[in-house]
Amino acid sequence: MSIQVLKPKFHVDECLEGIRECLEKGWTGMGFKTVEFENAWMAYTGHKNAYFLNSNTAGLHLAVRILKINNGWEDGDEIISSPITFVSTNLAIEYEKMCPVFADVDEYLCLDPVDVERKITSKTKGIIFVGYGGRVGKLDKIIEICKKHKLKLILDAAHMSGTKVNGVCPGTWDGVDVAVYSFQAVKNLATGDSGCICWAEDKNASMTREMAWCGINKDTYARSNKGTYAWKYDVNNIGFKYNGNSIMAAIALVQLRYLDQENARRREIVNMYNEGFKNNDRIKIIPAPYSEECAYHLYELAVPDRERLLNNLSEEGINCGVHYRDNTEYQIFSFGEGQAPKARKISQNLITMPLHMWLTDDDVRYIIDKVNKYA
Ligand SMILES: Cc1ncc(COP(=O)(O)O)c(C=O)c1O
Repeated sequence: MSIQVLKPKFHVDECLEGIRECLEKGWTGMGFKTVEFENAWMAYTGHKNAYFLNSNTAGLHLAVRILKINNGWEDGDEIISSPITFVSTNLAIEYEKMCPVFADVDEYLCLDPVDVERKITSKTKGIIFVGYGGRVGKLDKIIEICKKHKLKLILDAAHMSGTKVNGVCPGTWDGVDVAVYSFQAVKNLATGDSGCICWAEDKNASMTREMAWCGINKDTYARSNKGTYAWKYDVNNIGFKYNGNSIMAAIALVQLRYLDQENARRREIVNMYNEGFKNNDRIKIIPAPYSEECAYHLYELAVPDRERLLNNLSEEGINCGVHYRDNTEYQIFSFGEGQAPKARKISQNLITMPLHMWLTDDDVRYIIDKVNKYA
């Protein structure tokens, strides 16, 4: 037996059908399916803008860059961020020569609003909030802080595809300036690599279209078969090749159809885990607010001896993971060491349990049994 920690489920025949359409049409690049996906994503999430990208990493970079240009931020200005995240969140700040300031995390492993407010200085321009494992955390409080201190709010929604609060996607809440989703290979809405950026302000959204396409002010799709001036475009900004393509969008369109159903199954597994671990006092369950609508990308436990448990479970055919190491343990972010002591401490005990569509109830019971045996 071998159980993986994260394993995507692709609806293969339907994905192949979508890819076939692209190949037969002779359109695998940006446009066609990417536009279809953007429309489907706006309809699903309620965002009024959506731009399909090659990754969330690209989207976070564009988010910081566009806010920097449009708000006159300077090199060395600060963005408050989480130390418990994938490195892309904080690299996006570095790409723009700004400085990540690490605030501590709360019981949900999301930014703690109290510590965030303490970390605000005259150089603070914005906050990147990570919806850790699909959790919305205390995003509402972070929004209040941003409004009070006139800070911009970037939502790293890499894990949040399908997370809702009272039926509403938190990325659309008033006060979130931009939400960036990931459809990377093992995410809830898995493709190969892709993502989506959704702005609250139209001006930023149209700038994104140019900046993600080498700064060109007309995209190839808009230029195709559109008369003699089709070839004529300008380059207004230094842009990047960050756009998504139709092959990924064809897969994303299929995966989106199953997202709610699959997130519901994730919640069933999480409920089984929570039930199975609740009486084990060596194990700390990481809670989620609005758990009945959480997209649960990750299921974490905090355990006393993580290394030993990882090895014991691996010998029993259960492959767990670690999400994430405190980013200030990495050399490039070591200047932030000590800024978030709670995050440092808990990150050393975190273990990620398997959570995906291939798990049967028997698998989940087997995992619970082994974890309770060894933790
Ligand atoms: C919290 C978080 N932010 C950003 C990213 C980057 O996403 P992508 O791989 O789509 O660039 C990830 C991916 O693992 C992530 O988990």
